[in-house]
Order: sequence, then structure tokens, then C-alpha cells
Amino acid sequence: MSIRVKVLGIVLGVILLLSLFVTLQMRSVMFDTLRTELAQQGTALIVHVADQTGELLDDQQVDSLRFYLLDRQIHYSSDTHNTRIAYLAVFDSDGKIIATTLPDDAIPSELQPANLDQPLSALHDHLSYLSIGDAAILDIATSIGDQGLVRLGLDEGRIGETVNIVTLQLLTITLIMIVIGLGAAIFLTWILTQPIMSLVAATQAVSQGDFTRRVPRWANDELGELATAFNTMTESLAQAEHERQEKEALRARYVSGVIVAQEDERKRIARELHDSTGQSLTSILVGLQNLKTSTSPEEIASRSDELRGVISRTIDEVRNLAWQLRPSALDDLGLLSALDHYISEFQTRYDIPVDFVANGLAQRLPREMETSIYRIIQEALTNIARHAQANYASVMIDKRQSTLRIVIEDDGIGFDPNRVQDRSLGLQGIRERAALFQGTITLESRPSQGTALFVTLPYDLPENLL
Ligand SMILES: Nc1ncnc2c1ncn2[C@@H]1O[C@H](COP(=O)(O)OP(=O)(O)OP(=O)(O)O)[C@@H](O)[C@H]1O
Ligand SMILES: [Mg+2]
Repeated sequence: MSIRVKVLGIVLGVILLLSLFVTLQMRSVMFDTLRTELAQQGTALIVHVADQTGELLDDQQVDSLRFYLLDRQIHYSSDTHNTRIAYLAVFDSDGKIIATTLPDDAIPSELQPANLDQPLSALHDHLSYLSIGDAAILDIATSIGDQGLVRLGLDEGRIGETVNIVTLQLLTITLIMIVIGLGAAIFLTWILTQPIMSLVAATQAVSQGDFTRRVPRWANDELGELATAFNTMTESLAQAEHERQEKEALRARYVSGVIVAQEDERKRIARELHDSTGQSLTSILVGLQNLKTSTSPEEIASRSDELRGVISRTIDEVRNLAWQLRPSALDDLGLLSALDHYISEFQTRYDIPVDFVANGLAQRLPREMETSIYRIIQEALTNIARHAQANYASVMIDKRQSTLRIVIEDDGIGFDPNRVQDRSLGLQGIRERAALFQGTITLESRPSQGTALFVTLPYDLPENLL
């Protein structure tokens, strides 16, 4: 059910309920008031009629009594008095009728004084409500000393008519109130739902990836605040999406770069196997052939010495190749030994002294983490060898409580980290590997001031990352 229907329903219900209550209350109050008024009017009237009747009875003018009663009935039933007298009747002290404005044969049994259940002489402005035929009658009875009793019947029909007219007016007002109320409610819900609908549309657009959608700030109220908050949220979403896409592109470039690098590596190893190991094996083959034809023991001895030399060089080459592919020490002996081996190899190959310090690595780290740290240090040292023109380098690993810090420094020519080209994959690879373990890297380098690379890896990682 839409908000509009709900609001309209509530407004309609409240107006109807209130109107019903007011109308019923009004009817009952009016009825009571008009009845009291009628009773007061009737009481005043009957006192007067009783006096006159008493006088007429004293004068024995029973015949003129009926005319007098008819005259009074006609007089007071006129529009100027706003009362309608249904009957006037006079009874003697025995309860027999003396005179009445009703036709003689139409005196209802309700009028018999015996029905009053009280001694006639004690009756004084006695009120009773009768229904005679279809009419509701207010009956007032009062005694004329010990001469008898006068009864006056006032038709209550007028009261009902007046109350009905007022009720009708109230209902008309209710109808007008409903129309105005509904109009106001429609306007209100329009004002309220318009911004909400446009927010809904914008939210749907955003959920489908359109981050350019903004909603206008309609007014400086709560809905305006909502619109501003929505726009801010969309902007942050757009920003986050942009960053995600950039990261994604970077990652894709990295992955394809890694594949190319791996392919190059394979080519190099294939060439090395072909050029150097292949050559060595061929020369061993030729050496063995020569050995077969050698006759003198000296010749055999010198050739087999030569062959042993070639074979031991070949073994070194193959070992070296295997090491480059994956340092077996990393799996067997751990990070520390693998790095020791790599760094001493590095120093000999590039003639750059490296100071290596490691703290807190007595226990093995998770295998993936060890590989990543090894590759990070390998890349950083390779960069130093290739780009830094350094005289000295240092590698420091420090594991304390929940953090592992690595610092690789050199005293080389330095560079501007902001100018690193996108095509270079080494530093990016370092960053990616650190990010894999929710770590961060910081590069401190300025031209001609050497370079320091800081890597921080949180160590108490959730199970699934280790
Ligand atoms: N220790 C260093 N001293 C001086 N310059 C450095 C150092 N490390 C990196 N650089 C500079 O930063 C650039 C980016 O390094 P990065 O390792 O990302 O790429 P690369 O070494 O050029 O190529 P590769 O993708 O093969 O690693 C290098 O080209 C070099 O100019
Ligand atoms: Mg590099």
C-alpha cells in the first residue's frame, strides 16, 4: 500500500470518527436542552391554564371550559410560540374527564389519571413522556386544588425536526471537511513522496552502476538532508568505484606483465640449457669418444681429469638454474637460509656488499608469506644492482609481536618514486605482494640520496590468509 493511500485513509478515518462523535454528542445535548426548554415552557403554560380552569370551575362554567381549552391550544400552537400542543384535558377529582381538546371518542387510555399512580391532589407539574400513536408527547399534569387535574400534552416532533436539521448541517460540514482534508492530504503526500520517488529512482540507477546520478535538494528540511547525504554517498561510491577500476587495471597489467616475465625467464633458462648445459654435455660426449681411442695411461688420466672438470661445472650450472627457478632452501631450510644463500650469491655476482640482519625469525613463517618476503627482497636487491649504482646495501628483517618489518636500503643514485613508469612491474609486484597480506610499503628515495624501501606486514592475520 502506498504512503498516499495510507495517509488518505488515516485522514478520512479521523475526520469521519471525529464528526460522528461530535454529531452524536451534539444530537444528545441538543435533544436534552430542547426537551428541558419545552418542559419549562409547558410548566409556565399549565400553571396559567390551571388557574383559569379553577376560576371557570368555581363559576360553574363547565360548558365554556372546552372553548377556553381549544382557544388556548390554538393560541399557543401558532408559529410565534414555537410549541405544538397535542391536547389539553381537565379531569375531576375522581379521574373522570370534564373537558378536552381531543375529540370525545379519541381519548387515549394513556391519559387516564389512574395511570399516574399518584393521588391527584398531590400532582404538581408532573412530567411524563408518552408515545401516543406515532407521536412522542411530553405530558404535564398539575392539580387544580381538590377540584381535579389539568393535563397538557406537548408534541416533541419539533425537537426531532430541529435536531435533524442541525445534524444535516453538521454532516454537510463534515463532507466539506472531508473534501478539504483529502485535498490537503493529497497535497501533503505529493510534497512528501515526490522527493522520495526521485530518491528511489536515483537509488535504482546507482544500484545499476550509474554513479553520476544526483538528486536535487528540495528544501532545507529532513528530506533535503537526506538528499545531501544521498549525493555524498553516491560521490563516495563513484570515487570507490573509480579506485577499484584503477586497481583492477593495475592488477591486470601486473598479471600480464608477470606472465611475460615468466615467459622471458623460461626463454632465458631454455637458452642457457641449450647454450651452456648442452655445450658442456656435447663436450663430455666428445671427451668420452676421445677417451675411448686413448692408449697411453697418461693421456687417459689427463683426459678424464678434464672430463671431471667439465662435469663438475655442468653440475654447478644445473644447480644454479634450479636455484633460480625456485630456491629449494626456501621450502627445506626456511626463509633465513634461503636469504643467506641468495645474498651471498648476490654479493659475489654484483660485487656489492650487503649487510643482512634478521631478528625474530627463529620460527618458520607461513609458507606463502616466506615466498613473498623472499621475492620482495630479491626484487629490491635486483633493482639496486640494476639501477642504483650503489657501493653498499643493507637488508633488515625484524619480527616483533604482531608486525613484521623489512627495510632494504642502498647508498646509490636514488630516484623520484613519483616518476616511476607504469610499465615497470618490480615495485608494483612488491606492493601487490605486501597487499596480499594486508601490508603496506613506503619508498624513501630522492635523486642522489640513496633509496630505502620499508615493508610492514601485520603478522597475526586471520587464519584464511596464512
Ligand atoms: N634502488 C633503486 N635505486 C635507483 N633507482 C631505482 C631503485 N629501485 C627502483 N628504481 C627506479 O624505479 C624504477 C622502477 O623499478 P621497478 O622495479 O618497478 O621496474 P624495473 O626494475 O625498471 O623493471 P622490472 O619490471 O623488470 O623490475 C626503475 O626503473 C628505476 O628507475
Ligand atoms: Mg625491478
